Amino acid sequence: MNVTIVRDHDPEATRQILAVLPDWFGIPEANEHYVRAAAEKASYLARVDNTTVGVALLDRHFPMTGEIHLIAVTPQAHGSGVGSALLAAIEADLVADGAHLLEVKTVGASFADEGYAATRAFYQARGFLPLEEFEGLDWDGPTLIMVKPLT
Ligand SMILES: CC(C)(COP(=O)(O)OP(=O)(O)OC[C@H]1O[C@@H](n2cnc3c(N)ncnc32)[C@H](O)[C@@H]1OP(=O)(O)O)[C@@H](O)C(=O)NCCC(=O)NCCS
Repeated sequence: MNVTIVRDHDPEATRQILAVLPDWFGIPEANEHYVRAAAEKASYLARVDNTTVGVALLDRHFPMTGEIHLIAVTPQAHGSGVGSALLAAIEADLVADGAHLLEVKTVGASFADEGYAATRAFYQARGFLPLEEFEGLDWDGPTLIMVKPLT
């Protein structure tokens, strides 16, 4: 698969990708939040033949660190390196900008869910380490904070 990563905003594609990932993004209000964020936050798009197949949004809470606010790839493209390419582009930009650590929050393993087990496997395969799990941080269940040293 020939994937190109671009820095651009595509809220409509973000909406469409989230809509076909109901096992991860099943709360309409939360999805609307992400669609608005897709217009405002630093946004990376994965394109195949001019179609957006993946999106990642980045937060910079502090100059030395970054946080993946959202990463989502359309199901047909899962396992084809699209998520890795999005991460690689973000990490290269963060390193060039002097950041040392990348954070992501995801659903913790104490909530049994096949989809999020695959999500954690992806982050782990790309070098993220589990840091701490919190209950009730941004939803009723467990949130796992993962971090990746960049330099
Ligand atoms: C998580 C996600 C962004 C990963 O993107 P992707 O394009 O599917 O991932 P890649 O093809 O780059 O996979 C990279 C590595 O992650 C691991 N991985 C990916 N999917 C996996 C799965 N289902 N099970 C186990 N490991 C997996 C593999 O080690 C893979 O490396 P390999 O292909 O060399 O074996 C994508 O699957 C997705 O959109 N998932 C649903 C939404 C989601 O989980 N978002 C994050 C919420 S916190």
